[in-house]
Amino acid sequence: MAAPRDDNRSVKRRDFVLRAAAVAVAPGAVGAPTEAAAPSVTGWAAVRAQFELRRGERNFAAWYLASHPKPVRDAIERHRRGLDASPHEYVEQHAGLEDEARAAAARYLETEPGQVALTDSTTMGLGLLYNGVRVGPGQELLTSVHDFYATHEALRLRAARTGARVKKVALYRRPETASVDEIVSSLEKAVTPKTRVIALTWVHSSTGVKLPVRELAAAVHDHNRRRAGAGRALLCLDGVHGFGVEAQTPEELGVDFLVSGCHKWLFGPRGTGLVWGRREAWADVEPAIPTFARDAYAAWLSGSRPAVPAGLLQTPGGFHSFEHRWALGPAFRWRLGLGRARVAARTHALVHRLREGLDRGGRFTVVTPRDAALSAGLVMLRPHEGDPADVVAALGRRKIVASVTPYRERYLRLGPSIVNDEDDVDAAVRAIRDVM
Ligand SMILES: Cc1ncc(COP(=O)(O)O)c(C=O)c1O
Repeated sequence: MAAPRDDNRSVKRRDFVLRAAAVAVAPGAVGAPTEAAAPSVTGWAAVRAQFELRRGERNFAAWYLASHPKPVRDAIERHRRGLDASPHEYVEQHAGLEDEARAAAARYLETEPGQVALTDSTTMGLGLLYNGVRVGPGQELLTSVHDFYATHEALRLRAARTGARVKKVALYRRPETASVDEIVSSLEKAVTPKTRVIALTWVHSSTGVKLPVRELAAAVHDHNRRRAGAGRALLCLDGVHGFGVEAQTPEELGVDFLVSGCHKWLFGPRGTGLVWGRREAWADVEPAIPTFARDAYAAWLSGSRPAVPAGLLQTPGGFHSFEHRWALGPAFRWRLGLGRARVAARTHALVHRLREGLDRGGRFTVVTPRDAALSAGLVMLRPHEGDPADVVAALGRRKIVASVTPYRERYLRLGPSIVNDEDDVDAAVRAIRDVM
């Protein structure tokens, strides 16, 4: 396993401050407009200062749909002005920025740009992937009961068209007591020779459980040892609540596909996302929407077949909200400046502090596992009395922004992220104790 290139645990705090600031002024690639000046404050406070979240509130749901940090806001604004001034000219002059966005995403993921398809959201990525993957009648699309609506629905639609069967299994009985062994053995028992797709979610927005993806991938790898071609099971991950929180790259996770929005924990432009695929695995997916990749268009003009890398072939064409898509480059560069490992450590430290406070007791149960191997940035609570929505409203009156899980079993949900600090976390603990 390759060490992450930006694993900067050894970087001193001062270097981090300088790097975090420097990335905000780093010039873009050729043709990219100049990026914004660095803030004057330092460290994590400097990171927080990049956001325009409402003052006086402690926001534990900022990741739900990203608040844009300054480098992203500035890039969007520059492109918006250019597009409004002369759409045709601006698009002609800046079309290369899509390649730049893909290249920046690939640097962040430590992969090749040709393996990355750009989308508008996690949901679009899941739809494209599960719609396009080659599946035969009688094969199984395996998922879990903990997954989000978008995965379940994309699989249901696919099964309806192919005669494949959707199978949903529980990977753990109770989130509070989930263990790596329980999760891996549950998956092993569910996989059969008919399994074609294993559709899982890195961090469950239902319970906050983070799956032990590497261990699951090893189990799938073992299963695939005796299989080839369309008989192989493909491990596909909705990564949206791990992407931008955890440090692992898709190669390190060992998955075949990683699907994510860039507009949650990454704090990239709203309306952006991606699908990363292993090179050989992409060969098992048919594109659904015509790409606008230059070479594919040129092939159409010349009457030949397009020969473009999978990531470009699988990127839906048509015109987009380009000011947002083109701001992906600055977003990824900013995040690389912060460092994947450093953001992971920061998020886990805030979650740990929250857990310490909550575990001192109250009229609620924390359902998300405490173990950092089985949790990321989401912490779910079950109030002993009353509705979680009433708790959210009461917290709101105390200027704490939380949310309710959008599942049949509803929990109170807090997600400390890089927009928060220790003070926010302590205030949230006090408020939760007060209102429940
Ligand atoms: C696990 C999971 N996947 C996907 C989504 C949808 O993400 P997007 O808005 O990027 O489609 C959500 C919630 O919004 C989610 O919780």
